[in-house]
Amino acid sequence: MKLTIIRDNKEQVFEIPDGKYTVLEGLRYIKINLDRTLSFNQGCRSGVCGSCACIVGDKEVLSCKTFLNDGDVLKPLKNLVIIKDLVVSKDTIEENIKKFKTTIIENSNNQTSNIDVKKIDIQSNCILCQSCYSSCPVFSVNKDFAGPYILSRVLRYTNDKKEANQKAHIDLVQENGVWDCTLCGNCTLVCPEHLDPKNDIQLLRNISATYGYMDPNFASMSFSGGLDFTGNQNGFGFNPNF
Ligand code: SF4
Ligand code: SF4
Ligand code: FES
Repeated sequence: MKLTIIRDNKEQVFEIPDGKYTVLEGLRYIKINLDRTLSFNQGCRSGVCGSCACIVGDKEVLSCKTFLNDGDVLKPLKNLVIIKDLVVSKDTIEENIKKFKTTIIENSNNQTSNIDVKKIDIQSNCILCQSCYSSCPVFSVNKDFAGPYILSRVLRYTNDKKEANQKAHIDLVQENGVWDCTLCGNCTLVCPEHLDPKNDIQLLRNISATYGYMDPNFASMSFSGGLDFTGNQNGFGFNPNF
């Protein structure tokens, strides 16, 4: 079967034996038998290290957990610096981890129960594969945007009983954070660990509101200048009777 890899923005087609195997096994076949210069990341080969994420067709996947089909086209994750072939840099993510302080800021020394752990369980399953960053339209145009994985992680630490300073986490995600997301849901669709960053961002918006924050976009929206349903010229610009 045929497998196309986008390398350095050019297509390269490889012929590999027919069979049922994963994308990663196909890449390893090429590396061992056809082209030793091909570069890609692999670690656990069992879906837990997050290193092998790439795009197959149009979707971000873990190459070790995805079966290969004849004619598949593989490319590196989007929105990240390509180091070589399918290998992308993790620098932006590491910078964001520091910038948005996605660790405990002030230890509460609280005891935690199994129920407390369950509240942060899902977000703790993130394997840092970066698929959500690749799929995010906001991150594609604004590299200062905290991004889906970071915001899920902020919710995780905001809900962690060991964190004594919940507000510090919320303060840090007001700019280039919770209000910049378009809630498109791409991140949730591609996450191999079934995290739901879109929902986590909505929850962070709710928590932000409890600290007195509001969507800064509201300030630039005009609700005047139109007829409201009472006929007032400077009303809300909205008439529910029409
Ligand atoms: S829901 Fe928000 S964070 Fe997720 S991909 Fe869309 S814009 Fe990015
Ligand atoms: S949130 Fe999901 S898609 Fe994003 S880095 Fe973590 S595991 Fe990968
Ligand atoms: S090699 Fe570890 S997740 Fe694929």
